[in-house]
Amino acid sequence: DADKIDALVDARNGRITPLIFTDPELYELELERLFGRCWLFLCHESQIPKAGDFFNTYMGEDPVIVTRQKDGSIKALLNQCRHRSMRVCHADSGNTRAFTCPYHGWSYGVDGALKDIPLEDRVYPQGACKEQWGLLEVNRVASYKGLIFGCWSDETPALEEYMGDIAWYLDGVLDRREGGTEIIGGVHKWEIECNWKFAAEQFASDQYHALFSHASAIQVLGAQPDDEGSKKLGAAQTARPVWETAKDAIQYGQRGHGSGFFFTEKPDANVWVDGEVAQYFRDTYQEAKERLGEVRALRLAGHNTMFPTLSWLNGTATLRIWHPRGPNKTEVWAFCICDKDAPQEVKEAFERSATRAFGPAGFLEQDDSENWVEIQKVLRGYKARQSKLIVEMGLGNEKVREDGIPGITNYIFSETAARAMYRRWADLLMHEKWADVEKATEQFEKELV
Ligand code: FES
Repeated sequence: DADKIDALVDARNGRITPLIFTDPELYELELERLFGRCWLFLCHESQIPKAGDFFNTYMGEDPVIVTRQKDGSIKALLNQCRHRSMRVCHADSGNTRAFTCPYHGWSYGVDGALKDIPLEDRVYPQGACKEQWGLLEVNRVASYKGLIFGCWSDETPALEEYMGDIAWYLDGVLDRREGGTEIIGGVHKWEIECNWKFAAEQFASDQYHALFSHASAIQVLGAQPDDEGSKKLGAAQTARPVWETAKDAIQYGQRGHGSGFFFTEKPDANVWVDGEVAQYFRDTYQEAKERLGEVRALRLAGHNTMFPTLSWLNGTATLRIWHPRGPNKTEVWAFCICDKDAPQEVKEAFERSATRAFGPAGFLEQDDSENWVEIQKVLRGYKARQSKLIVEMGLGNEKVREDGIPGITNYIFSETAARAMYRRWADLLMHEKWADVEKATEQFEKELV
């Protein structure tokens, strides 16, 4: 019940109980109250440009097909045949005029309408109400600068209101150039044996882990970028780490969303990217600065989560969804996103960089997921599951900045965003009405600043 959930997440004092990562009943409640109500990323508009194009994805554990209609609009349909629940579409993506169920052959249009039932007159002599048996449609679909989101609930606020200040941070990826962005190549998909919240929290809140979990990679590639980009192997021993040299750094955490970045002084400040990508950031810096201002134009090494499951890293072009697969498993989908106006060879360099660092075998991805998987194993223990974890970092140091950077912020090595995320998680699970969720979150945030 609500009091028990509340007790599991004492964000005001920086304590959480790890049952939230393991409990099957809480997981069922997440599917209903969190994945059933939040705006969830579906795909990028560039993945379904033409009428009849479709992209198969999930909202929580519900399989959903995103389709482009004849009039250019977008629908999201539950990928579940109305007859016996079979998936009507198994392809990852493609173009079609109909989805035909492989079990008994019922056929649906890309708008979800049931078009054809084999032997209809004979098997339904009483008459089939085909107009009532179309695929179920996701209640709301909306786009934000190329990203398509879906929401099952009519009560949830409109997408941009739901996003709040995380939109300002997301614009640092989506709005650098006039032409917007596109997805390059396919989608890397793999499973990891851990709860989805470890991944979402780390991308929202945890710059701190990089000092240790990525120590080897940082040592090899260099702790501080220079004009030679990733070619500067060997300079690592003399370079000072970015957390010592950056003139400022922040963590943002509000309404479950989180972000963090260092204020860098060069437009190619990311050591994980190919030389072509670093050069591209130098070449396009002025345009990005005019569109976004200096802070975001230079912000090429940020980590981010839009609650609950959309995460991205500025500069390295990786955008991912953490699809839940039970309390102990997550299916990771990684997309490579880059500016549509970039030259082809730069797009290919973006894809190489993203795959090498954050693909399924990426040298940074492996560091991260090993931690999460090992934690999930520890939490099989009865005592371990009940213990309190400390989420206190930066507690009491939250503030609203006066330089135009929006939202509740803190120093980058903080757990402000983690506290915001777990509090939002609890508020969603505890309250049936969205207005009560908002009231609870607002109260928590008001006490912070
Ligand atoms: Fe789809 Fe029977 S389950 S036609």
